[in-house]
Amino acid sequence: MDTIECITTRMSIRKFKAEPVPKETLLDVIATAKWSPSYKNSQPWEVVVVSGAKKDELSEMLIGLLEKGERPAPDISEPLSWPPNIGKRIDEQMKKKSERLGIDLSKPEYLRKAKIANFRFYGAPHAIFLFQDMSLGKWSILDAGMFAQNLMLAAHARGIGTVPQAIVIDYSKQIKSFLHIAETKRVVLGISIGYPDLSGKANSYKSSRIDTTEMLGWAI
Ligand SMILES: Cc1cc2nc3c(=O)[nH]c(=O)nc-3n(C[C@H](O)[C@H](O)[C@H](O)COP(=O)(O)O)c2cc1C
Repeated sequence: MDTIECITTRMSIRKFKAEPVPKETLLDVIATAKWSPSYKNSQPWEVVVVSGAKKDELSEMLIGLLEKGERPAPDISEPLSWPPNIGKRIDEQMKKKSERLGIDLSKPEYLRKAKIANFRFYGAPHAIFLFQDMSLGKWSILDAGMFAQNLMLAAHARGIGTVPQAIVIDYSKQIKSFLHIAETKRVVLGISIGYPDLSGKANSYKSSRIDTTEMLGWAI
């Protein structure tokens, strides 16, 4: 697959086969992502892969925290509001996806279910956590985003699915303690990774994008 095809056919995968990805393949995917550009080539990314029984234990811990009503405290906070045009876009996408999947994704009972599915890493055999020193600024979060995208593209090129997940860093402090990551680090993102399970509805929705004219101007 060429680069353009890889970028345009990648999609978030929300149902995975249980079959683990060989360690060498995971290593290869992560080692490819490290060729991402970064501010002053600072390479401000660190990665932990959690698999098997340890990953299941982490899922149970996150679900337990949710069920006991622990307040989410992610190292990167969830946006409280959006500019009107972007808010509208998010609502429209949610409506479109709800119609396609036949579930009202905005209902509170569904939101709880969705969080639990996220905390179970959608059945993926591995979860990847990206983190970096807390003292690093916004450019380093941007760099980590580039790393994340390249990791997901490198996986997709090998027939491996991923989904980036902000929700799984809701309980950053507990995640760091569980994964033996220093408290001075910021957890940036979780990424579930594994072979896509294309049976059923979960992976049947391909998200759309706004028209290019809506976000592009030419200065002449
Ligand atoms: C920073 C970031 C955080 C995200 N968090 C979540 C999440 O917590 N759970 C989830 O299911 N998807 C999450 N997504 C996936 C987005 O919903 C998805 O990328 C978007 O709807 C576009 O769909 P696509 O990835 O299939 O192209 C996240 C994506 C990004 C980039």
